[in-house]
Amino acid sequence: MAAHRRRYHHHTYNRFRYLIPAISVTSGAILMLYGFISLLAPSPDHLHHFVPRKSLSEDGVVDDSPAIPSLFKVPVSGEMVSDKSLWNTKMSEFYYGCSNASNKFPKVETVTYPNRYLLIATSGGLNQQRTGITDAVVAARILNATLVIPKLDQKSFWKDSSTFSEIFDVDWFITHLLRDVKVIKELPRKGGKDWIPYNMRVPRKCNERCYQIRVLPVLMKKNAVQLSKFDYRLANRLESDLQKLRCRVNYHALKFTDPINRMGQKLVNRMRKLGKHYIALHLRFEPDMLAFSGCYYGGGEKERRELGKIRKRWKTLHSNNPDKERRQGRCPLTPEEVGLMLRALGYNKDVHLYVASGEVYGGDETLAPLRALFPNIHSKDTIATKQELEPFSAFSSRMAALDFIVCDESDVFVTNNNGNMAKILAGRRYVLPL
Ligand SMILES: *[C@@H]1O[C@H](CO)[C@@H](O)[C@H](O)[C@H]1NC(C)=O
Ligand SMILES: *[C@@H]1O[C@H](CO)[C@@H](O)[C@H](O)[C@H]1NC(C)=O
Repeated sequence: MAAHRRRYHHHTYNRFRYLIPAISVTSGAILMLYGFISLLAPSPDHLHHFVPRKSLSEDGVVDDSPAIPSLFKVPVSGEMVSDKSLWNTKMSEFYYGCSNASNKFPKVETVTYPNRYLLIATSGGLNQQRTGITDAVVAARILNATLVIPKLDQKSFWKDSSTFSEIFDVDWFITHLLRDVKVIKELPRKGGKDWIPYNMRVPRKCNERCYQIRVLPVLMKKNAVQLSKFDYRLANRLESDLQKLRCRVNYHALKFTDPINRMGQKLVNRMRKLGKHYIALHLRFEPDMLAFSGCYYGGGEKERRELGKIRKRWKTLHSNNPDKERRQGRCPLTPEEVGLMLRALGYNKDVHLYVASGEVYGGDETLAPLRALFPNIHSKDTIATKQELEPFSAFSSRMAALDFIVCDESDVFVTNNNGNMAKILAGRRYVLPL
């Protein structure tokens, strides 16, 4: 197949041709969804009828409910769109990688000061930690410090005891960044004893100046500083060479370990064997995140009760108006909505869908409408055996890494949320085809 996409090696033009549909599917889809939501402007109760659970018959056509007339019919195939434009676009010619440093970027030797060690402890799930690691490299560069390999969060909601080197290829990380930031595996000992770094936090979205004012004096005094809960602690806007460094870290220096890559590739190969193309769907529909969103998903009193109970966990969460949240596009799509959106975009019933998800609220019942629209639904658990997944399954981050790979290699990537993983994958599709 001409469109084989090799990870981390040669990113061919072919690979590239598949990039834009993913991006445009997501944005187009969201637009369309806004469109149809605002047109029909459903109140939560109407919505309940308008996307009824389990209302799709086998051939993917909405059943007429006796009380409420059906508002639309879902075609089995999306014939308006040619196969070509579903998987390709000429626009991709206009994208190019831009991770390389400019020639104004000073050499690492001239900016790494002795006796300045920066450590970080990340926070959150795999992809949130990944953004933390990316920012840590840039923070070290801003501070002219040597970075110690980041400590991963082992206590988060996702509870994974894996260390950095069990998820990412450490040596690759260090060598890949040789020209940017000095990275070492461990803090050196001091006076023959273990050196405990000074622990502190920086505010969220701290910019260059903020690091110079808040961290630099401490670093110069203590020589080793650990920034804890390190996520979103660096401003989004930075000067261009620091942004490019971000890209080099996130898209080039962070590479999963060989066992993870091998298993991920195996899953990708299995998806490719099933058909010419596949769509990867990152579906976040865990009860927690639904409760946190404050949105209503059409599950009636039962849902209101159940999610309301979980919601009480966050004391500071103010109650919002679910109807308004939805109209403003702040609610993650339900599996059914994702299915309708894909069908509306022209994807047929025979398309293979790889679903990367955690626990789905409502389980099979929630997934049934999506399955009716796209019967070829797969996941790690359906395309790999228990034994194959055994080395990964007790570790949420390693499992997330496998999903990341399959989504990354997909022809089209679509998501029901705009979280860390979706953002990173969209970014990869912009910058990778060097
Ligand atoms: C970026 O740098 C790499 C390694 O030095 C080089 O191989 C590649 O051609 C450069 N890409 C661009 C677009 O300049
Ligand atoms: C980092 O090093 C450069 C080059 O020596 C210098 O201009 C800059 O002020 C230094 N910044 C910090 C935060 O030490």
